[in-house]
Parts: sequence; C-alpha cells; structure tokens
Amino acid sequence: MVTIKDIAKEAQVSITTVSFILNGKYDQASEETVQRVLSIAKKYNYSPNPIAVGLVTKKTKTIGLVIPDIQNVFFGEVAKHVDNEVTRYGYNVILCNTNGNIEEDIKYIDILRRRGIDGLIISPSGGLNETKLQEKMIDTLNKIKIPFVCLDRWSEGLTSSRVSIDHCQGGYLATKYLIEQGHRKIGCLTGPLNVHNARRRLNGYQKALSEFKIPYNQQIVFEGDYRFESGYSKGQKILNNDITAIFISNDLMCYGFYKAVRELNKKIPDDISVIGFDDLFFSNMLDVPLTTIRQPVETIAVTAAQILLEQIKGNQTYKNIKFQPELIIRKSVRKVGD
Ligand code: RIB
Repeated sequence: MVTIKDIAKEAQVSITTVSFILNGKYDQASEETVQRVLSIAKKYNYSPNPIAVGLVTKKTKTIGLVIPDIQNVFFGEVAKHVDNEVTRYGYNVILCNTNGNIEEDIKYIDILRRRGIDGLIISPSGGLNETKLQEKMIDTLNKIKIPFVCLDRWSEGLTSSRVSIDHCQGGYLATKYLIEQGHRKIGCLTGPLNVHNARRRLNGYQKALSEFKIPYNQQIVFEGDYRFESGYSKGQKILNNDITAIFISNDLMCYGFYKAVRELNKKIPDDISVIGFDDLFFSNMLDVPLTTIRQPVETIAVTAAQILLEQIKGNQTYKNIKFQPELIIRKSVRKVGD
C-alpha cells in the first residue's frame, strides 16, 4: 500500500509538503509541485490516513454532537440532519448522549476535547438547582478553545452561537389556540424547569393567559421531564383536576398522557383537549392525531451545522438564530360548545 512517504519520495518533496497539498493547502508549494504530488497520488489511488493528516493539519475532520436524550425522536432527527450536513464537507460526527445529566455534559465535553474534535454542537442539560455544576459546565465549554454552537437548548452564561426556535412564542401559540377554542381551565405540563427552553415555554403559556385575563393557577401547572413516563405519571395526577384542556411541553409526554387518559376510560378530546410541542413523526399517527406546535428540526440542525463549519474555518461571528414555531391543527382539541 502506498504511503505519504512513498509519494514524498517519488515527488522529491517533504512529507509535510505532500500532506499540505493533499489537504488542499496549495499555497504551501509551487504550482508545479502541487500538480506533481496530485498526479502521483492519483496514479496510486492514494487515500490519506486520517491520523497522519491530523498530526500535520491539527484537524481531525470530526465534530462532537452532545444531546440530552437519544430516545427522543426529536434528537434522533437532529443527529440525522447534522450528520448529513457535515458529511457533505468530509466531517464525521461523534454522538454523545447525556441523559439530561449535567455531569455527563462535563464528562463528554472533556472526552471530546481530548479526542481532538474540530468543533462541537451541544444541547446542554439544565442545572438551575445545581449552580456549581452549571457553572462548571459553562466554564468547561467557554474554555475549550474549540468552536461550539448550542442547538435547541441553551444555558445563561454561554458565549457561543445558538440556534433554536422561539420557545416562548411556541407556548404562547399553543395556549392561545386552546383559549380561542373556548377553554378557560387550562392545565400545563412543563418540561424540566432547570432547562431554559422549558421555562420559556411556560412563560408563553403565562403570557397567553394574561393576555386573555385568565388568572394563572399554580395548582394546575405540573413539572415533567420531557419523557414519556412523566407524561403518564403526571397525567394520572393532572386528570384529578378540574380542567378541560392542557398544554403539554413536548409530544413525548403527550404520548404518556394519552395512556393515562385511556386507562381512566376518558376520551381525548371529549373529556380533555391536548396540545403538544415538537410535532414528532408519530404525532400524526395516534388514534387521535395530536394538535401540536411544530419545530423545524431539519432547518435547526442544518443551520447549527453550517454555523459550526464556518466557525471551524475561522469565521467567528456570533449568531443567535431563532426560527418561528408553527401551530399544527389536528384532532386532539375540541371547540367548547361543539
Ligand atoms: O422533546 C424534547 C424537547 O427537548 C424538545 O421539545 C426539544 O425542544 C428539546 O429541548
């Protein structure tokens, strides 16, 4: 098998020069040398060893993607679209799942840094009640000296670019729609409130109530953790309350809530109207297709990847991009009086 050393020998240049040329850094040699090296590489069908290339270029053509929940289809979609986008530019992705545990975020940031990644996309875990860990995570990220972009989730204090939707607007649109359908007793199942976007979605719920002069009632606001199980277990409690509708902060918890409703022999939307958030693939396939707030997940993922690739190239402009959520009307909300 032909090595970079063989090419250097045949071209009568140094290994470093060959490496630069094969990595597209043509300004490191004369035009004639570049052409000679490229044609020898082509003749032998040479494909460079990434470790050797990395030693010379100090780049590994690898990015890290740190997500909080690999079981959630939302993040599966994120991973797919980030991977597709960066692959087009010759990058590979190392995927890390933190289970929403901030200590895992810190651990993976450090592992990825030591693996020599060129950049990082992260959807950081929350940590509102874990101030020390939160500070440590922010400090670790801000100090890694590797470009990074926050996707979907974010933490106060982070200095990177961020790409997400307007979460508050999403919560607002969902609640306003329930109110416009005649509901007044509207419960809320939030995401984990140590996560920034869960608090913003709750703010949107509060904003809509206040705009329509409906008093905010803490008794019918429950905290979940964005997982199916909490939709189910909190659902059992929520259904003891006098409400006609509920805004649930993500679709996965809605699926758990549907189960709780079914077990109580109640019906959606006759007994309770439900609106979710995300618009996961399965939400249109439920027995009662879910009315929800759509996040443009592909656009979010591709945009985050493009910003990161720009930053890796050295274009450091800070960007805070917020896409607009969209209300998707299906069958899970009843109009009061119908
Ligand atoms: O479904 C999980 C939630 O976590 C999504 O709504 C997404 O925004 C993420 O933060």
